[in-house]
Amino acid sequence: MASFPSPRPAASARLPALRWPLPALLAWAAGWAAMLGLARMAALPPALAVTAGLVVAALPALLAATFWRRVIMAGGFPVSLLATGVGGVLPAWAWLLPLAALALAYPVTAWRDAPMFPTPRAALAGLDRHVVLPPSPSVLDAGCGMGHGLRALRAVWPQARLSGIEWSWPLALATRLRCPWASVARGDMWRGSWAGHDLVYLFQRPESMARALAKADAEMRPGSWVVSLEFEAAGRRAHARMALPSGRPVWIYRIGA
Ligand SMILES: C[S@@+](CC[C@H](N)C(=O)[O-])C[C@H]1O[C@@H](n2cnc3c(N)ncnc32)[C@H](O)[C@@H]1O
Repeated sequence: MASFPSPRPAASARLPALRWPLPALLAWAAGWAAMLGLARMAALPPALAVTAGLVVAALPALLAATFWRRVIMAGGFPVSLLATGVGGVLPAWAWLLPLAALALAYPVTAWRDAPMFPTPRAALAGLDRHVVLPPSPSVLDAGCGMGHGLRALRAVWPQARLSGIEWSWPLALATRLRCPWASVARGDMWRGSWAGHDLVYLFQRPESMARALAKADAEMRPGSWVVSLEFEAAGRRAHARMALPSGRPVWIYRIGA
């Protein structure tokens, strides 16, 4: 199962000016520019031009802050190459099509907060030993992706009123289909109010956690809960920390505590 290792400060400090996903887009574009440029202007044989493109696209990935960003940066060029038929069956601009599809499914805003990685099925088992909710609680998965978090939450609290908000409309649509018992909105989790929810669940990024806790403090009633898979809110005392069998943590915060 995918995980986001925390960014290595030394590495992220090496790319301070470029906001994600710009480094990935630039790496992919550099791969294409190198391949097409060398094939056309230097008349390099196709295999060599492709190899040069692969190297040029992969090198910047070494500077990326996390494992998954390295994978995305290095993998985008070969994937776009395959998607366009490598041999030039399609016009060169056709590589923009998979990119456009990706941008549609995965708008830049969502990349900045967190790309789509699902909560493992049993990741939240035992959460009710640490978190006591009122009867028929309202539970929000902020950035609900394809609904895996909602399903994991439902396994713990079948009686809960579950809702999700997701920026990407295809993912929101997928969640509506997969989780017909939940109320799912397409929108920005930072804009809608979290007041009225007894628990907000997050599987985002380390950088999002301070903002999430500040929003929860401002909007949620004292005694309500914020639960984060994997990522800790630095400097904030957790009510409890659960460990998954894989060793990944689940951080539990009580608002107003
Ligand atoms: C790591 S995935 C987690 C998905 C789901 N919560 C789960 O645990 O299976 C993070 C999701 O948050 C979404 N997201 C990121 N920023 C968002 C924002 N500002 N508003 C709504 N959704 C956002 C992404 O599109 C992605 O689907």
